[in-house]
Amino acid sequence: MPETNDKPEFSRGLEGVIAAETKIGYVDGQAGRLVYRGYEISELAGKSNYEEVSYLLVNGHLPNEKEYRDYDRKLKELRTLKPDTYSLIKEIGKSAHPMSTLRTVVSYIGAKDSRTVEPNLDEQHDLGIELIAKMPTIVGAINRVYRGEEIVKPDHDLTYSDFFFHQAMGRKPSDVESKMLDTALILHADHGMNASTFACMLTISTLSDMYSAVTSAISALKGPLHGGANERALALIEKVGSPENADKVIGKMIENKEKIMGFGHRVYKVYDPRAKILKEYAHEVTSMNGKEELFHTANKIEEVMISKLGNKGIFPNVDFYSGMLYSSIGFSREVFTPIFAVGRISGWVARSLEYVRENRLFRPKALYSGTKELLKYVPINERD
Ligand code: CMC
Repeated sequence: MPETNDKPEFSRGLEGVIAAETKIGYVDGQAGRLVYRGYEISELAGKSNYEEVSYLLVNGHLPNEKEYRDYDRKLKELRTLKPDTYSLIKEIGKSAHPMSTLRTVVSYIGAKDSRTVEPNLDEQHDLGIELIAKMPTIVGAINRVYRGEEIVKPDHDLTYSDFFFHQAMGRKPSDVESKMLDTALILHADHGMNASTFACMLTISTLSDMYSAVTSAISALKGPLHGGANERALALIEKVGSPENADKVIGKMIENKEKIMGFGHRVYKVYDPRAKILKEYAHEVTSMNGKEELFHTANKIEEVMISKLGNKGIFPNVDFYSGMLYSSIGFSREVFTPIFAVGRISGWVARSLEYVRENRLFRPKALYSGTKELLKYVPINERD
């Protein structure tokens, strides 16, 4: 029998539905506020680093010195990839989209790990920490191969984000690049029950393993309505080309009812607090490398969008300025969403672990709107 609802309560896309309880963080879409475990995002972005934020999300409190040292040591120990993983990246990573390569590599490492068969909670935790540790190595190698460059030997003395930068770019970051990338990873680390986090939690709620859950999350992040918006936002800014063109190009797109990538959000109906911070960095870095025109074009697009659609609650989101930032520090456009994944991995793991500890299988219903009349089966040769 088809599913029916006696008392249908229908929310397309689960909009507004509360389906889990969490102590990890919240998004206040009216006040433009993002909080991780009680700490405002601007406070963490200004004062903390990615390792601390990752620990905070997974463990519930900021680490003391010993906890920090232990966590940092563990992440460093688990960073390494096996030779066959590098071979896989070399085999598919030149032509596939980096998000497809990332999804395949995470799934592959999981397939080779015997703990993924029926992991208990401690094993799920260990797999999660291993994934947090390996993500910068995987995405760094994907960036190298995609650009036709040699894979870089890991430098284990480097911090999480500097290590990532070095693996991806083949050189150590400047102080400004280091701070920018670390901040971007912090800003992307968690964001409520967004589509990829939900995909991760949904998969783990079946008691599947953490590698499978993160593979689901990466698949969901890839889409243009979620993480994939950042590369398209930069493409749009480049297409507009200069501030003088913004009014005409964006006006036409709005007239044609096209979605402008990097704007709007299901939760934020005011300026996304992450975009505010990234915008400042984007300004700084584009002034440093002589690409101010790009920044001013983006700023003008923002002005046009707010004047035309601000009354509908449409403002820049995290993806509008992040692509410009990553491209300014040398990343290829196709790697922007994998960078998002390097940041978000801690949120995926933290929320999946929190959920599976008090597990309840996710299983929503669909409102059946097909025929209620029962049909008689007609053999194929008798059908019209
Ligand atoms: N450009 C133009 N119009 C827009 C946009 C946009 N970016 N976003 C929303 N609208 C309009 C939309 O056309 C609709 O208008 P109308 O009421 O006249 O039909 C109205 O605003 C409501 O839009 P919606 O798509 O129903 O709203 P939503 O809550 O489903 O939107 C969204 C959320 C992110 C899917 C949407 O804003 C969008 O597609 N944005 C572009 C893609 C993007 O930047 N995604 C990254 C999101 S932030 C990263 C993350 O956290 O995942």
